[in-house]
Parts: sequence; C-alpha cells; structure tokens
Amino acid sequence: MTATLKSLISATEFAHRRAQLMSKMGSDAVAVVPAALHYRRNRDTEYRFRQDSDFYYLSGFAEPEALLVLLPGRAEGEFVLFCRPRDREMEIWNGYRAGPEGAEKDFGAQQAFPIAELDERLPALLAGRDRVYAPMGVQPDFDQRLSGWLSAVRAKTRAGVRAPSALHLLDAVLHPLRLIKSDAEIAIMQRAADISAEGHRRAMAWARPGRYEYELEAELLHAFTRQGCAAPAYGSIVGSGANACTLHYGENDRRMQDGDLVLIDAGGELDHYAADITRSFPVNGRFSAPQKALYDVVLAAQLAAIATVRPGASWQAPHDAAVRVLTQGLVEHGLLQGSVDDLIQSNAFRRFYMHRTGHWLGMDVHDVGDYQVDGQWRPLMPGMVLTVEPGLYVAPDDETVAEHWRGIGIRIEDDVVVTAQGHHVLSANAPKTIAEIEALVGTA
Ligand code: GLY
Ligand code: MN
Ligand code: MN
Repeated sequence: MTATLKSLISATEFAHRRAQLMSKMGSDAVAVVPAALHYRRNRDTEYRFRQDSDFYYLSGFAEPEALLVLLPGRAEGEFVLFCRPRDREMEIWNGYRAGPEGAEKDFGAQQAFPIAELDERLPALLAGRDRVYAPMGVQPDFDQRLSGWLSAVRAKTRAGVRAPSALHLLDAVLHPLRLIKSDAEIAIMQRAADISAEGHRRAMAWARPGRYEYELEAELLHAFTRQGCAAPAYGSIVGSGANACTLHYGENDRRMQDGDLVLIDAGGELDHYAADITRSFPVNGRFSAPQKALYDVVLAAQLAAIATVRPGASWQAPHDAAVRVLTQGLVEHGLLQGSVDDLIQSNAFRRFYMHRTGHWLGMDVHDVGDYQVDGQWRPLMPGMVLTVEPGLYVAPDDETVAEHWRGIGIRIEDDVVVTAQGHHVLSANAPKTIAEIEALVGTA
C-alpha cells in the first residue's frame, strides 16, 4: 500500500487547476510552491500535519517535505513534484509515502524527484524562464532557498543561461482561481457544513446549567471526527456568559450557569475545506426577555444581510444591511440614542458590533481573494462562498446601558454560496430560530 490521491476532488480537476494557473502565468513563467512545514508541539511530538492550501489545491498531495514546480510548455513535463522517497523503515514508524514513483503514478506529476535533489535540480528548472511565481513572506526558509536557486542561475548567465528577471507573488494569479469554487468544491463545503451543523445540534442538545463549555466542544468534535473531518477548521469557540463577548475566546473551560447564553463558533474541515458556523443559545433552554430582544435583532440583521447576496451585489451589501438593522435595534431598545443614519455615519454601532459581517470561505477559513478591485468593493459572482455573521456584544462593564443588557454576546454565522439565481445557505441545518433552539437545548 502507498499514499494515493484521497481527495474528493478528481485527478482531472487538479490537472485543470494546474492548466488554468499555467495559462494565466504565461509560457515564459515558472511557479514554485512549497508544501507546509511540520511543526513541533513539544519535545519530540508534532502537531498533526496540515498541507498548505495553495499546494494542496494544485496537487492533492498531502505529505510534508515536498515542493511542486509548474513549467508551462516544457517538453519533459509541465508538472514536476519533489517529495520524500519511499523508505521502508520510516514508513513503518510514520506512515506510507507516495515517493516519486507514486507522485507520477497517482498525482499526475510528469516528473518527480526526491526532495533531497532540490538544490541540485531547481536552478536548471528556473533557467530560461523570465518570471518566477512563488509565495513569499510565508516560509522564511523557503524565501531564502529560492533566492539561492535564483543566484545559482544568475551565476551561469555568462555561459549563456537566461536567468529570470522578475519574481511575482503566486497569490496574484492563483487566489482569483481559488475564490470561485467549482461544483465539486461546493459539494465538499456542503458536506462540511452539514457535518458542522450536526455538531452544533449535538452541542445544543447537551447544554444545561452546571455543564462545562468543553463538554459542548466534545459534542462538536464527536460529530466532526466521526464523519471524516480531520480537524476543526479553526479553534472552536465555546463562550458562555460574558465569555461570549470575547471575540476569539478559546479556553472553553467555564462551568455554564443558569441564565447564561452560550456562543459557539465552530466548524469542521473536510478534505481541506472549512465550515464556519456560529450559534448562540440559552444554556437553560429559555431565552430571557433581554436575550430574546437582542437575539431577534441579530437574527433580523443576519437575514437582511443574507437577502442581499446575489450575483452583481457588492461585497459590502451584506455588511451595510446588517449594520442598519443592528443600529435600528440598538436604538429601539435604548442601547443607543439618536437617529439611525447619524449613528451609522459616526460608527456608534461599533461599541456593540466591532467586526465585519463576513469573509470569503474555502480551503482557509478566512479564505483568499481580494475584497476590492480597482478601489471598489468587489461584485459577488456565482461560485464565491462567504460567511454572513453579524453579532452584538455588550461588555459586562458597559455602564452606558441598563444592567440587564450587560454581558450579553450574540453572533449568528452562516456559510453562503453565491448562485446564478441568488444564494444558497450551506449551513441551513444548524437551528437558528428561537423556537427551534428552545425545542432542542437540553434534550440530550
Ligand atoms: N471563526 C472565525 C470567524 O468567524 O471568522
Ligand atoms: Mn467567520
Ligand atoms: Mn466563525
């Protein structure tokens, strides 16, 4: 047995991605993309390896210590992969390796070499190409090695070798491709969202006063892991009571109290694609009157924001819609005073809503792709996937508001794909109406 292509994306689609990238780069260019690094956790244990998203997008190759080179039009092969050699001893301890043989047989590489031959072979692959595309500023060690390979080519120019004259960020040509998801990518993201929604339902069912935040985290992980998510797509947030007001809370170790809301922001990663879902609900299964009042505001803001998502709408439209509904609600309930337009104009809402309404979602939870083009917010297009995640957070010590509002933190986050007709909510299976939530909390 060896390591083979395990992705839900087909070998044909990986080849299509490489072809698209090469056609955008131009025939005089070369792309050099390193695999992710393996990080030490402590002493002699390591964090679970997770492949670099750009590298995986182009190869489906999930091993560390690898590097891929794309050379449009090269007769001996346009896709060259360097990787760890087969090694019986190492494979017994640490798992199967594809080796250069497997890279050619199963991953579509036209040529593959042991990673130890990088310094010897890379300069020759760069020679004769005008422009180099590579990630820069991500792995300092790679940046340095790349400049070494470029120097090695330049050292040969007197012998008639042409050295590249420009170095470009790979991001500029690759990330616009990653921004638009194919049907196969959307199918994986739908599955990641369904699995994650089940995790949220399990957590809601397990919640009750006296249980710990980490018990809800365990319910999430159970659903994710059991259905094939190798890991959460980011550190799960389970924040009860005033912890819900800490946007990146991650300790998840508080004992939940009667009367608390709990905010869960968690999603699984399936085949390198993320889900990112937030739900907020009462630990005892009943929203108090102030909790219900603010929950209704956030839910109305989220629905208004989602309703703006369609092809041609601005990236900014969901945010503007959410801010308007949130500000109206804050005025209606007396947390802000004044005219809604003035309060939006002066950013007064930021006291209670200090983040933006969403981000691109894909292989990375905060996925790649520009939000502006030529100084304008980007128009949405079919195949883009974004989160819509308004919230309200009233600091526990905010003396500008009545005491009953203090310490309430609410966010509702869904994953939304732009379709030809409008949009589709991938994470719709996570309950978010008050009736659905109250019916489910505490039932396990
Ligand atoms: N979970 C990270 C975010 O919502 O952006
Ligand atoms: Mn998010
Ligand atoms: Mn989130």
